[in-house]
Amino acid sequence: MQRLLPDPGPVNVDEQLETYRPWEDPHEERPLVAVNFAATVDGRASIDGRSGPIGSDADTAMLAGLRTRFDAVMIGAGTMRAERYGRLVNDMEKREHREQLGLHHDPLMVIVSGRLDLPWDAPLFTDGGRVLIFTASRAEPPPTATPVELVRHEGFVDLVAAMRHLRQELGVRALLCEGGPGLHNELEGAGFVDDLFLTIAPKLTGGEAPRIIEGDLPAVAPLQLAWLLEQESELFARYRRP
Ligand SMILES: NC(=O)c1ccc[n+]([C@@H]2O[C@H](COP(=O)([O-])OP(=O)(O)OC[C@H]3O[C@@H](n4cnc5c(N)ncnc54)[C@H](OP(=O)(O)O)[C@@H]3O)[C@@H](O)[C@H]2O)c1
Repeated sequence: MQRLLPDPGPVNVDEQLETYRPWEDPHEERPLVAVNFAATVDGRASIDGRSGPIGSDADTAMLAGLRTRFDAVMIGAGTMRAERYGRLVNDMEKREHREQLGLHHDPLMVIVSGRLDLPWDAPLFTDGGRVLIFTASRAEPPPTATPVELVRHEGFVDLVAAMRHLRQELGVRALLCEGGPGLHNELEGAGFVDDLFLTIAPKLTGGEAPRIIEGDLPAVAPLQLAWLLEQESELFARYRRP
């Protein structure tokens, strides 16, 4: 892997992320929020309904590396249904590395769901770890081997209140959102996104697949490029809100 910006030269994912310490810069009312997406060159965020076919092994390494550096990881229910998550940090060494950094060995998995229509047989609910679901549903989830905590909202999940709960009740300092496009739209619309990690895979797919944001934003959001890496024509960018 090459770093193109800043300070061009050879680098690997772990070296690049070693100085990235988002938990050191939380906001008072909410965690620092980063979003991570992979897209094709024509801006599509899924191929045949899944994100997996977009990126390479280097993209998977970036995803796994980023997960080691946040207190919590958030996804929308649509992403949980499409991707059927398992335990966030499966690798024992990475869990130990998190502890060395002063983080809990398992990041808190946070799901935002209106209807609580989730794939309860997915490995996330059997493999251990920690799960918190913000939901507008009154339904009772089935019993799961992985402990699941529910926070209920009325009508829809109020993300301002959810962020305050994460920061002030649970001490979450840094939150990584892994999508999808619907939840990303709400977070950007609320001005919550501090960092955007975007993998641009050297592929064109065409068709009707979603982009990394689906929906209107209140205004055009300018971004600054904080770093840019490259491996085998795949680009790994980190953008910041100025
Ligand atoms: N390329 C990538 O990096 C990437 C990353 C993630 C996802 N994806 C792709 O994106 C697609 C899924 O897109 P999506 O937009 O459906 O996913 P999403 O944003 O994960 O999920 C949308 C759902 O989240 C729930 N939700 C979001 N905000 C809510 C709120 N304020 N209150 C209550 N519920 C809320 C709703 O769930 P309910 O249905 O429960 O009401 C809503 O239908 C899949 O194809 C996936 O593969 C790609």
